[in-house]
Amino acid sequence: MTQLSTRPFLQTLGLLGAGLLLAACGKKEEPAPAPAPAPVASAPAPAPAKVYVVGTDAAYAPFESQNEKGEIVGFSMDLLNAVAAKGGFEIKFVNTPWEGIFNSLGQGDRDLLISSITITDERKQTMDFSAPYFDAYQLIAVKATSKVTKFDDLKKLKVGVQTGTTGDETVTKLQGKNSTNVKRFESTPLALKELEAGGVDAVVADNGVVVNYVTNNPAAKFKTVSDKAFAPEQYGIAVKKGNAELLDKVNKGLAAVKADGAYDQIYAKTFGAAPAPAAAASK
Ligand code: ARG
Repeated sequence: MTQLSTRPFLQTLGLLGAGLLLAACGKKEEPAPAPAPAPVASAPAPAPAKVYVVGTDAAYAPFESQNEKGEIVGFSMDLLNAVAAKGGFEIKFVNTPWEGIFNSLGQGDRDLLISSITITDERKQTMDFSAPYFDAYQLIAVKATSKVTKFDDLKKLKVGVQTGTTGDETVTKLQGKNSTNVKRFESTPLALKELEAGGVDAVVADNGVVVNYVTNNPAAKFKTVSDKAFAPEQYGIAVKKGNAELLDKVNKGLAAVKADGAYDQIYAKTFGAAPAPAAAASK
């Protein structure tokens, strides 16, 4: 006590200063208790992995759609997430209107597309596709009271399609290029709403989406009409033409997911206890 109180004032200050310094150093070195967020966020971050941007037209339930929270969800997301995990790459989904979707890939705004895209010879000229991951075909939706029983019956009727889809191509072929009875919509749900409103007599789109809509909108009183004339289609994941490195990762992941049962699980989650895709929609 006496000793301390007799120390010169300046020395006391010096001690205090050293103490403060020590305290400050100690604080810096302590990892957890400081609430400072900066060190936590930036300290051990390894070189950030490339996150591939995936374009999808999320108006195509149950394959790709937006939930109430605005999150992009569906079979395609579950599948590609599993594929990416197996293939060792990271992805982020970005809602991308169908009409610009192929351009976005060509321009490099998107690295990948998963959007129930049918692999066609024409598209193969401007992009590369993964191995097929889903079988599909066109299906007709009409009002329950409609007399339509086959594709040919649509020849002179107003038919709604999503612009630039295989449904559009199929109906355009039937009716002829200059037909004014092909009514093109930005999205497939919009075409189906128009059918409900009576603005078109039928809609032609991918079976899975038509079945999903008809099932979930009983008030619309639709029925489906299938026709053997529709060619079998297969969906593929697209990369920019020549992006062999990414395509390889996707194909490896896809093969792994098909082999280890993950694909079947995702299929069953979306479509119920897994019948063959074709059987699921043709009932
Ligand atoms: N399978 C059809 C096609 O490739 C329709 C795909 C539409 N996909 C979508 N997400 N809107 O043309």
